[in-house]
Order: sequence, then structure tokens, then C-alpha cells
Amino acid sequence: MKRQKFIGSICPLLLASMMASPVLLSCSKEEVPPEPLSEEEENYLKFKELIGAQGSYTEGKKLYIDLSHQRYEAVKLVGDFVNDLDNGLLILRKDEENYLAFDNCCPHLGSRNLWTFSNNKFRCSNHGNSFGIGGDFTAFCSSNSRSGNLKQYGIALYKDLLTVDFSA
Ligand code: FES
Repeated sequence: MKRQKFIGSICPLLLASMMASPVLLSCSKEEVPPEPLSEEEENYLKFKELIGAQGSYTEGKKLYIDLSHQRYEAVKLVGDFVNDLDNGLLILRKDEENYLAFDNCCPHLGSRNLWTFSNNKFRCSNHGNSFGIGGDFTAFCSSNSRSGNLKQYGIALYKDLLTVDFSA
């Protein structure tokens, strides 16, 4: 049957529905644009990708740490800490929602890997000196100090991304 003859013989309503169906299909396939991400969320996704399998990533004076990485799984409970020797940091879980980050260089003579933590103090077993976690009376790395607080860095936490600011 020739095309014109076929069209002429077909029921007009059926023809109309055949013509309309592609339009309806294309409407139903139209996707709703996703909600724009917040700047915090965008940064989170960006740095999680940059961190990758390493567990941490440095950009400028900031260090980005993936707390879900196995390197940091020891800070799951309040009072736990990790001595991150690669980044020169002690990371302490202060309470359920807060972490603290300190220079892991002992203010006495600079040991970095002999720390324990109890009663809100880090103790370096090299010579047995203890240092607090307050934000004042900072005793700096290898300054022959036997007391004071460890050098503390500014941090921000978003989900499981901990940002340590070495300039703050
Ligand atoms: S080096 Fe830490 S107490 Fe002496």
C-alpha cells in the first residue's frame, strides 16, 4: 500500500495518537537538573578524590585527612590518638564531635614517636616529660621545655574530612 493511501485509510484518531506518542515519550524522558552542591560539599568531594588511597593530601599550608582511611582508624573513640609521623601530627579525638591536632615534635628535645596519652596530657617517654593540650602556654618543638602545651593547629571537620591548617 502506498504511503498516502495508507494515511488516508487510517482512522484519524489513531493517526493523531501515533503522531503524539513520540512527543509524550520525549517529555517523560526529560530529567530534572540536580540540586547545586554547597561549596563545602564540593570541596569535600574534591579532596576525598585527591586524597585517594594515601589517606591524606597536602595543598599549600593545609593538610586534608580522610578519617575513614585505615591510617586513622585508631581515633575512633574519645581519648584515642594517632601519631601521624608522615605529617608530623598527633591527632586526638577530644569528644564525639571534635578532634585536635598537635605538632608531634616533643618540646623537650624533639622526639616524635614516643607518645602516650592520659589525663589530658601527652607524655613523651624519651625523658618522661608531659605536655598539655590547651591552646595557650605553647611549648615549641625541641625548645628544651619540660612543661607547657603542645603546639596546636587549627582544624575543621566536615563529615569524615579533617582539614588541618598549619598556618593557624
Ligand atoms: S625528648 Fe621528649 S621528653 Fe625529652
